[in-house]
Amino acid sequence: MADNKIFITASIMCANWMHLEADLRALEAGGVDYLHYDVMDGFFCPDYCLGTQIINEIRANTSLAADYHLMIEEPARILDNFQANDGDRLSIHYEACRNLHRDLVRLRQKGFKPGVILNPATPLNAIEYVIEEVDTVTIMTVNPGFKGQKLVPQMIKKIEKLDEWRRKDQLNFQICVDGNVNQDSIPAMVEAGGDILVGGSSGLFLKNRPLAESLAGIKNLVAAGLKLREARVGG
Ligand code: DX5
Ligand code: ZN
Repeated sequence: MADNKIFITASIMCANWMHLEADLRALEAGGVDYLHYDVMDGFFCPDYCLGTQIINEIRANTSLAADYHLMIEEPARILDNFQANDGDRLSIHYEACRNLHRDLVRLRQKGFKPGVILNPATPLNAIEYVIEEVDTVTIMTVNPGFKGQKLVPQMIKKIEKLDEWRRKDQLNFQICVDGNVNQDSIPAMVEAGGDILVGGSSGLFLKNRPLAESLAGIKNLVAAGLKLREARVGG
């Protein structure tokens, strides 16, 4: 995908929960593309986060499309807890599914844009036989489970390799990057081929900085990254 539009998906678990509504309105006004809902089961990853009752409350009060990130073991068990609105994405982990292909097909039937997510240690060839079923491949640039972690640096190379594969085979999925998306990492992530960036605690929801300001900063970094990408692959 040689498209030059980069999407921002805001990780709502990183918002200011004491002023959630204010954050929602600022994200909508600032032109964020999706709300990223991190769902954790305390088993696949070592913490808990965002049940569907909380998610549905937020969804009922925002115009932003949903981007679900299920960090749960065997997500097939609970997929029916999630309803797709037009344009919603839902991504599941390669490492968590016993029947990944079946689960991805089911997600599309349910009306979601299906996505597969890879932990830092998982090689790209793990998804060779499901790649045509997905709209999104997410590269975890940190290990899943906590906000505010450090980048696993070799993930930049992994994004680039995934982009090379996509170009070589003329595939149409988008590359999402999740974890430590910030001012130091964004240009390299976009240069490598990232199309969707998860804005979390390190780059979007910053203490003492209004969301509008963080978003403007991210857009400048994205523009710098796109110039680097153009130089790398010729546009
Ligand atoms: C990590 C989550 C991310 C997280 C990233 O497990 O999947 O969505 O919010 O935000 P940072 O790394 O910027 O805190
Ligand atoms: Zn996430």
